[in-house]
Amino acid sequence: MAEKVIFDTDPGIDDALALLLLAASPEVDLRAITVTHGNTSQEKCLNNALKLVELGGIANVPIFRGASEPLVKELSVAEETHGDGGLGYAILPSSAVKPHDLLAHDAIINEIEKHPDEITLLCVGPMTNVALALLKRPSIARKVKRIISMGGAIHYPGNATPQSEYNVYCDPEAFDIVIRAGIDFTLVPLDVTYKCIFTKEHLARIDKARDEIKEFVTDSTRFYMEFHASHQDIHGCAINDPLAAALLIDSTLVTYRDYYVTIDLQSPVSKAKTIADHYGALKKAPNAKVAMEVDVERFMNLFITRMNALQ
Ligand code: RIB
Ligand code: CA
Repeated sequence: MAEKVIFDTDPGIDDALALLLLAASPEVDLRAITVTHGNTSQEKCLNNALKLVELGGIANVPIFRGASEPLVKELSVAEETHGDGGLGYAILPSSAVKPHDLLAHDAIINEIEKHPDEITLLCVGPMTNVALALLKRPSIARKVKRIISMGGAIHYPGNATPQSEYNVYCDPEAFDIVIRAGIDFTLVPLDVTYKCIFTKEHLARIDKARDEIKEFVTDSTRFYMEFHASHQDIHGCAINDPLAAALLIDSTLVTYRDYYVTIDLQSPVSKAKTIADHYGALKKAPNAKVAMEVDVERFMNLFITRMNALQ
């Protein structure tokens, strides 16, 4: 039975690759795409999502407009990383798909209440939409099946500040609300995603996909690779969000540690740092299953095979 999934996303180049992976995954029953601010503005992320579902052949999946700014802090965007349009050098045709009338957090509430204990939230952007849903309807915390969240950095340096990972940095208060909600929570931090560096050699293996797919992956990752080279001295690009999505297909791609995870909301130096109680010093029960090791080759093979399946 395919897993019912809501994809909460801020497309964004690696978000787009994750959406294409979901489109090529019969293991996933994609119920909704909810869009958040993050890599660029909500409007641009929404516009990208409307185009990407046509590219991926999943234009039937309803798309919902989400939060245009964080709960508390000012809006951040990462257009130096993803381009001012959010998809690097890739240009997609305008879409015939329109967003649903409902707002994202209401769509999340409705879907969870319609399918108690069956909905997985795959969150690969700031957690604003999920936090808004929990604030409006706290009871969904007991009805959602699980959350898989690409976010945070445990022992790995931050990519937004020296200490914080971008998704969490964009809305730390939202992450705090969600991580403390008592939900079955899988965290996929930079510790594993920055081991998944997609290179030109990997790109060359995506040679059987439909031309539009090959063109999109080439043009979007070219911009992304240029950013990683110039800003992080990395040859290739970290495909963070596709790793989180891939765990819906094969959860054994990574190994997990059960940690009690908190987030720093106070310090001017380490605000939005995700903190794992590695030795149990706080004597608190773990609230997250944190992916700490990854089988990179197996993941990359899966990603490439699924891209090639997009005919
Ligand atoms: O830190 C990486 C995360 O921030 C990814 O989800 C990327 O898309 C950006 O949103
Ligand atoms: Ca993202």
